[in-house]
Amino acid sequence: MPDIIQLLPDNIANQIAAGEVIQRPASAVKELMENAVDAGATSIQLIVHEAGKSLIQVIDNGKGMSETDARMCFERHATSKITTIEDLFRIRTMGFRGEALASIAAVAQVELKTRRAESEIGTSLEVENSQVKKQEPAALPVGTNIAMKNVFFNIPARRNFLKSNAAEMRHIVDEFMRVAMSFPEIFFSLTSNGQQIFHLERGSLKQRIVQLLGSQYNAKLVTVQENTDYLNITGFVGKPDTAKKTRGDQYFFVNNRFIRSAYLNHAVMSAYQDMIPADCFPLYVLFIDLDPAQVDINVHPTKQEIKFEDEKIVYAFVQAAVKHSLAQFSITPTLDFDLDPGIQQLDAISKPFTEDKQAAAASSNLYRTFTQKNQAHFIEPSDKSELKHWREFYEPSQPSTSNLQLPTSNIQPEEQTLIQLLSTYILKPSEKGFLLIHQQLAHERILYDQYIQAMQGHPIAMQKSMFPVTLTLAPADAVILMELLPHLNQLGYQVEAFGKDSFIVQGTPADMLQGNEKNVIEDMLEQYKHSSSDMKLSAREKLIRTLARQQAIKPGFSLTQQEMQGLVTELFKCSQSNIAPNGMPTYLEFKKDYLDKLFGK
Ligand SMILES: Nc1ncnc2c1ncn2[C@@H]1O[C@H](COP(=O)(O)OP(=O)(O)O)[C@@H](O)[C@H]1O
Ligand SMILES: [Mg+2]
Repeated sequence: MPDIIQLLPDNIANQIAAGEVIQRPASAVKELMENAVDAGATSIQLIVHEAGKSLIQVIDNGKGMSETDARMCFERHATSKITTIEDLFRIRTMGFRGEALASIAAVAQVELKTRRAESEIGTSLEVENSQVKKQEPAALPVGTNIAMKNVFFNIPARRNFLKSNAAEMRHIVDEFMRVAMSFPEIFFSLTSNGQQIFHLERGSLKQRIVQLLGSQYNAKLVTVQENTDYLNITGFVGKPDTAKKTRGDQYFFVNNRFIRSAYLNHAVMSAYQDMIPADCFPLYVLFIDLDPAQVDINVHPTKQEIKFEDEKIVYAFVQAAVKHSLAQFSITPTLDFDLDPGIQQLDAISKPFTEDKQAAAASSNLYRTFTQKNQAHFIEPSDKSELKHWREFYEPSQPSTSNLQLPTSNIQPEEQTLIQLLSTYILKPSEKGFLLIHQQLAHERILYDQYIQAMQGHPIAMQKSMFPVTLTLAPADAVILMELLPHLNQLGYQVEAFGKDSFIVQGTPADMLQGNEKNVIEDMLEQYKHSSSDMKLSAREKLIRTLARQQAIKPGFSLTQQEMQGLVTELFKCSQSNIAPNGMPTYLEFKKDYLDKLFGK
């Protein structure tokens, strides 16, 4: 077998979206894992130390590299995956720019060990500052073992810019999960600081989803499968009762590549309309496969953004496919299956998308259902639907005081009577007019201040649980909870690690009613994972904000006079009583002058 890596000619290299490929350890994880996938590996092991800051190693059993290719792969624009610009439009590999290894070699010390099946002896190579330092033949297994050490060792400014290990590890786990999710036929493992976090045996996509996201999804996945001439959609969506309060387990893959798309997300959400509360997010893992010529993956260096040739038709297909699945599995007895009229009128729907595909497209089932207005996937209401009372089932449960730490105070004779409006606001007369206090934001401020104090050495009193509960988390969540344990203890939650991915809740804050510990912790983790991930907050600050938001009374919650008084008194004891931790006002003041003006007086 000849050497296969070639340098892309400048005219091609220049047409490739250039940019920073390695921004943080997780970007290297993604690139190295994708290279292993492209090399046809059936087993891929990822090993990291200190959240990838000191080591990222990927060991695969793929096709390996020749001696020459092992040197060549670190050159910029050196790739075996494309040779002409036309190749860009038929890409089936994850990589194609030939930039990742060059970028990695520029910012880290790299050791590469690789052997092809046809060579008896392999190659071992060390690279630093983009220079090959050492190269020698070595006895090696078939495949590639690449270790990247001390990322940004030569760029201290970049190294200092990295976030905490907990934050960087989360990015790594995210990237790992995305690659592992799209290739269930490959074995993957992830070991962090010597501890194995994931061990994913080969299996079906469904098994992979459960391995990655947790066994709570086991009987809760609905198959999505629509094949058309234009594209195929396969995968799973969660039954409505698995929808979570926070956007979590949502994956789109286009030709096996993880992508982000608010637009397609909307298509899925609209398919769930009326089945889940407005503020909940369903699970989905959807694979869209279509002719690579119909997508442009060359938009952004990290390839997470792509452009569809015809975005609207992909939207319509995704929406229809998900609706169809939810309907087929009798998730809901009487759904209104009229497609969005906006979509009915799209060119993509009312006219076939390209002339040459017209005939083929018109014969596709899905296409026909679109062209017959109001006929798409009509199903008879079924009595045996497992969720006959689905509406009651999904109605948000009545807010209860069960685990709220609501301040109350005895009403003093001189105190004014407060009025609750719309179960959301408290109206309080002031010297010059009145205050309109937002009950949730006010409570968030109060709790936030309490938690800050707790962290500064006045731990919140804890009560031992009479019946300690255990909870088992998805591996990625267990990593996060481990990091948060010491902080949680300060806040009155005594939670301890208890075997692999399991924890035991020994105690909760003294003023919290017991019995709901598991939900509180799980909800907290959900919100924590998805709150302000762009902001550079410490894990502690984020935890405090999350808990304050979670524990605060919500709109829709009726308050007694005493509770209102307590809330108002506590609010005005706070350091910044007028602003909630998220920066929103806790109250607005309406002064008489202003009101008079409104009345033209
Ligand atoms: N794990 C691996 N196994 C075999 N070959 C590899 C591996 N990683 C990289 N290569 C080779 O090195 C080349 C350069 O890799 P990279 O810089 O990531 O660029 P790209 O993946 O865009 O081609 C690849 O085209 C491939 O031929
Ligand atoms: Mg690559």
